Amino acid sequence: MTISAIFLTNFVVFLVFLNGSDGNIGNCDLSTPPPSWLSTNATGILDWATAGQPTNGSNFCVQGSHDDHTFHVAYHIDLGGIDTGEEVKKYVDHDYRLGSSQNGCVNNNTRIVYCFALCLNDTLQNMVIESALKSNQVSFVAQDIQKTTQLDWAITVMQVDYNDPNTHLNASAFLVADAYCSVYIGIKPKLGFDYLYEIQLGKILKD
Ligand SMILES: *[C@@H]1O[C@H](CO)[C@@H](O)[C@H](O)[C@H]1NC(C)=O
Ligand SMILES: *[C@@H]1O[C@H](CO)[C@@H](O)[C@H](O)[C@H]1NC(C)=O
Ligand SMILES: *[C@@H]1O[C@H](CO)[C@@H](O)[C@H](O)[C@H]1NC(C)=O
Ligand SMILES: *[C@@H]1O[C@H](CO)[C@@H](O)[C@H](O)[C@H]1NC(C)=O
Ligand SMILES: *[C@@H]1O[C@H](CO)[C@@H](O)[C@H](O)[C@H]1NC(C)=O
Repeated sequence: MTISAIFLTNFVVFLVFLNGSDGNIGNCDLSTPPPSWLSTNATGILDWATAGQPTNGSNFCVQGSHDDHTFHVAYHIDLGGIDTGEEVKKYVDHDYRLGSSQNGCVNNNTRIVYCFALCLNDTLQNMVIESALKSNQVSFVAQDIQKTTQLDWAITVMQVDYNDPNTHLNASAFLVADAYCSVYIGIKPKLGFDYLYEIQLGKILKD
């Protein structure tokens, strides 16, 4: 199976303002101030890994099921005291069926069959992509991003099932260079099956 043949048909991103975000993901209460929460709710997630920060607190939480391929993650982002949460927050709906735009990222490695980034820091974006190119193992990639960036941010790597028509990611994002970065990337390895990751890095408030 190759990503390009099977699922590069259509990609839709909706950017709208998100009106508040309550609810809970694990120990994270998304109504806790300041209102700088980001979250992702997804179906079609085969595996995931985190690095950089523990997930047992109340500012970075994950909740997932390997049986039904659902996954949720929440980040209480540290915007440096500037309470612009509602103004910079964007809601992004990744319809997993990807478009012909192909590689929209800063790294032009020919093994990248699809890439879409919400990451204003090009240096950081490139480091994330270099880590993704190294392995089809989510835990390796998460650790490698932490090791190469040396950031004390929360890092999540999700492996997305590009064969499942029900795969869907709802993710909110801040377009703030020093607090958030995400990269959605499909890779054709030299050997083995193609793989698709949603990778997110956020500078979070400490418990
Ligand atoms: C994503 O959001 C849409 C619209 O609110 C909703 O219908 C859908 O169930 C959500 N998907 C997931 C995986 O949470
Ligand atoms: C989370 O786990 C770490 C390491 O196991 C521990 O040191 C820390 O106290 C825990 N934090 C909470 C909020 O439970
Ligand atoms: C890749 O990007 C670099 C730097 O932007 C550029 O010099 C190079 O020509 C590009 N390679 C290809 C194959 O597009
Ligand atoms: C994800 O689910 C939580 C809990 O229901 C909700 O508060 C949050 O708004 C959702 N996030 C997105 C991006 O849809
Ligand atoms: C961009 O990311 C790099 C790598 O983490 C970092 O050294 C640099 O300071 C960042 N720049 C900004 C503007 O945040």
